[in-house]
Amino acid sequence: MEENIALEVKGVGRTFSDGTVALKDVSFSISKGEFAVIAGSNGSGKSVLMSLIAGLDEPSEGTITLHGCQAGLVFQDADSQILGETPEEDIAFGAKNCGLNKKQVAEQVDFALAKTGLEHKRVSYARLLSGGEKRRLAVAGILAMNRSLIIFDEPFANLDWPGVQQVCSIMKQLKEEGKTVLVLTHELEKVLALADRFMVLDKGHLVFDSTPESGLAADLESWGIRNPMTAYKSIKEMIWL
Ligand SMILES: Nc1ncnc2c1ncn2[C@@H]1O[C@H](COP(=O)(O)OP(=O)(O)OP(=O)(O)O)[C@@H](O)[C@H]1O
Ligand SMILES: [Mg+2]
Repeated sequence: MEENIALEVKGVGRTFSDGTVALKDVSFSISKGEFAVIAGSNGSGKSVLMSLIAGLDEPSEGTITLHGCQAGLVFQDADSQILGETPEEDIAFGAKNCGLNKKQVAEQVDFALAKTGLEHKRVSYARLLSGGEKRRLAVAGILAMNRSLIIFDEPFANLDWPGVQQVCSIMKQLKEEGKTVLVLTHELEKVLALADRFMVLDKGHLVFDSTPESGLAADLESWGIRNPMTAYKSIKEMIWL
């Protein structure tokens, strides 16, 4: 059983120096090959949790263990992830850091640009890409690194419909390849079909951890999450009030 675990989060808390309690006593484990969606409203602690899992920040209490894998991250803030002048250079940067040789790097760059529909932006100035293109670039970078655990923090922010479809199809493929995937989002209607596991963070607490089916039967609104099983019947209903 143990060897099947990719990520173990035990009694994790994070309190910042200004007194903000971003996470409190969060425990869960993710199996290898599992696809988990962690939902939560603004400020619920999703990005803080991702920084802790990625080792970019330390928990104030508890432990986080990655078993035999390094995490690849797609940040909520796509700008902060751009390191290269051009998409080509940016994607190559991550791939090189993973120890690939020159030929492998070039192959991974071609593959990742094609997968994310960014071939035509290969040598454009990365900083000038649109918000959605920057997000695709972040996804491309992760694909080229070929990590076994991938965490997406609000991956749909700024993406148009084709962009969402593209990212979802990449996620589906990662799942089919047996990768472990964690998606932190409140936009359930875009991704829940891929989830084996559904969790909710509310004010830093893990308040729900079960299946997507039982998640939809829970009172999601009380945690500030819109239930995606809502159909519009008229224009009058098309306002989120
Ligand atoms: N460095 C910090 N110092 C103080 N408070 C912080 C710091 N980083 C995050 N926080 C606080 O921790 C809480 C959780 O933030 P986090 O960014 O994880 O939320 P989130 O769930 O990702 O929200 P969103 O959906 O808006 O991205 C927030 O109240 C935030 O203000
Ligand atoms: Mg966030």
